[in-house]
Amino acid sequence: MKNNSVPFLDLKRQCLPIEAEIRDAFQRVLDSCHFASGPFVEAFEAEFAQYCRVRHCVCVNSGTSALHLAMIACGVGPGDEVITVPFTFIATAWAISYVGAKPVFVDIEPNAYTMETSQVEKAITSRTRAILPVHLYGQMADMNPLKQICQRHNLALIEDAAQAHGAEYFGQRAGSIGRMGCFSFYPTKNLGAIGEGGAITTNDDVVAARVRALRDHAQSTKYRHEEVGFNYRMDGLQAAVLSVKLKYLKAWNSARREVAARYHSMLTDTTLTLPKEMDGRYHVWHLYVVRHPQRDPLRQALAAAGIESGLHYPIPVHLQPAYSHLRHHTGNFPVTEGAARDCLSLPLYPELTEEEQIRVADGIKMATRKL
Ligand SMILES: Cc1ncc(COP(=O)(O)O)c(C=O)c1O
Repeated sequence: MKNNSVPFLDLKRQCLPIEAEIRDAFQRVLDSCHFASGPFVEAFEAEFAQYCRVRHCVCVNSGTSALHLAMIACGVGPGDEVITVPFTFIATAWAISYVGAKPVFVDIEPNAYTMETSQVEKAITSRTRAILPVHLYGQMADMNPLKQICQRHNLALIEDAAQAHGAEYFGQRAGSIGRMGCFSFYPTKNLGAIGEGGAITTNDDVVAARVRALRDHAQSTKYRHEEVGFNYRMDGLQAAVLSVKLKYLKAWNSARREVAARYHSMLTDTTLTLPKEMDGRYHVWHLYVVRHPQRDPLRQALAAAGIESGLHYPIPVHLQPAYSHLRHHTGNFPVTEGAARDCLSLPLYPELTEEEQIRVADGIKMATRKL
């Protein structure tokens, strides 16, 4: 990497200042030998439940597992339908497929990139069981209309909060509005483990007990299995590190907001379309995604200048080969398809310096002038 390059993400900058605390967490796990489930996981569950302002948090081994168990816990099964968005990471749809149900897509709204709530009711059929909005890039979906629709039609509302730790919607935290919230602690997330991890948050005692059992082979007592279960347990090591990192999440999210605000002022006079924070939302800027009609040449020019960028996500779920059996085609979800074509994620993390942001902004200005 060149000296003046800007990495898309640099986790070392996050780990180094808290390395002593992380090593101490390692040591405590090693000393106690609570490697799988156990007290470190229980402690983090209590802390994260409090952070999300819910009664229960059940930790699992990935965000994908959290979504899978959420589908089972709200009774989604073969032949059922779940309404979600095609503009997301593929795992949102996987969870629906894992239980034999069908993902039914509605497009996203053009400003927030989250579910277009005005299209949801048209997509409901007698087979619909749940609605699964995604709090994309760190901004929550428009939850009030979705909550009302779910109440009217007796559907479960599940939040894919994998990218939205600490995000808020009119003062309510991600993971606290739907029947369940599903989080990922993949290392690159706003709250990331040192490996894989995930969690389900809920205020529903019955749901919490069910997913708690399901993640551990559905055991009611040792070696008695009430239904087909899973080994989706979280490691003690992951939980111990997550407890350390959770203490910094508020500061990290505030720093992300500052970085985003700086990008806003640096990039207003460019030909880019900038992301927006919607009314009543507290955006935690997991990703800072701009749009440009000539995204690919722009990305190449930035790469040549040593500025890394990302694509989230270049192929919408409805056009993935894995979902060809649903027989969707280009044109079905135009807002999603436009975003997939034009989107470009710029480096954004709490430790990104102003100087690096100036380099990114200058790189963009130079490149777009030539396009
Ligand atoms: C929106 C969304 N849903 C689900 C997931 C799946 O989480 P994991 O990678 O922890 O399985 C991710 C993570 O990448 C995600 O971004």
